[in-house]
Amino acid sequence: MSAKARMDVPEGLNEEFYQISSDILQSFNKFRPPLDIFIFKEDVGRVAPYYKVGERLSKERIDMLAELVKEGLIFVSRKDHPVYVKHIAYQLDLVLVDRNLKEREIADIFLEALTMRLGEFFDQPVPVVKEKVWSDLMVLTEYLWNDPYRIKALARRLHKEHSLARHSVNCGILGLNMFIHQKSDSFAKGEVTRNHFNRLTAGLFFHDLGMTKIPIFIREKPKPLTTDERSKIDKHPMLGFEMLGKLDLKYKEIEACVMEHHERLTGKGYPQKKSGRDISSIGRLIAAVDSYCAMITKRPNAEAIDPKKAAALIAQDKGYDPEITRGIQSWALTLK
Ligand SMILES: [Fe+2]
Ligand SMILES: [Fe+2]
Repeated sequence: MSAKARMDVPEGLNEEFYQISSDILQSFNKFRPPLDIFIFKEDVGRVAPYYKVGERLSKERIDMLAELVKEGLIFVSRKDHPVYVKHIAYQLDLVLVDRNLKEREIADIFLEALTMRLGEFFDQPVPVVKEKVWSDLMVLTEYLWNDPYRIKALARRLHKEHSLARHSVNCGILGLNMFIHQKSDSFAKGEVTRNHFNRLTAGLFFHDLGMTKIPIFIREKPKPLTTDERSKIDKHPMLGFEMLGKLDLKYKEIEACVMEHHERLTGKGYPQKKSGRDISSIGRLIAAVDSYCAMITKRPNAEAIDPKKAAALIAQDKGYDPEITRGIQSWALTLK
């Protein structure tokens, strides 16, 4: 979009409509774009319909549309946000080039895209599918690298319903939120390396990878688990760890998340019954975040707990790192 185009558009129009760029236009089906398209009429200073979903654009209108987009005259309605979010979620890198999206719209798109990709990966945890999640996670780290505090808008949108993918997205986002706040000085001084940040991000989102090896009827069982079922579940950190090599995910940040997220400072966790500082700082971070995120959603065998109450509960529990639980508590207090 050119600077001129923005100036020509009256104030207020951006509230209702969203100006699309050539990159976005190219991502649509050429003949049948997925949502209504509007044209800004300079002579009357208003938008008018250009294309309605269900029609088919002719070759001439497609060419004309491309020109109009370049001139900054083409808009979609912000009411079509849900359709747009779904559409762009398949090409997440577009959020990095699009200057017209609002921060909250970008946050919705990330949540949708990452949940969808993780769901696909957990259904089929093989290298080709991992590559897709990985590249979307790298879009997220690129977006945050430019301004780490962008994580705040994402952290306000955690899922309220449970599924393995939603839980993993919640843990990834909240884990990053806590990490970014905890390490704000290191970020400012440039002490956090990009590789570390990338791998930590992947680790937080993949911490429950081993759960994909646990039969769904055990994972989603609405009744208390039998001893045998419990011992199967308890294997998921080790099962996840064993999957990392084949998936080309053998990094210490990811290993720590996968192996240590059920360890507790008191030594009462699993699988290695590590205690105190034997648990890495990443392990202590994901342990608290994981429990908090599990509590705030309705699970097959437990009701959701109010975020502030859940934060208070983990803060009282000696199994978690108090620095992290205090951080979660003060963050939860800012929620509406
Ligand atoms: Fe777990
Ligand atoms: Fe988890």
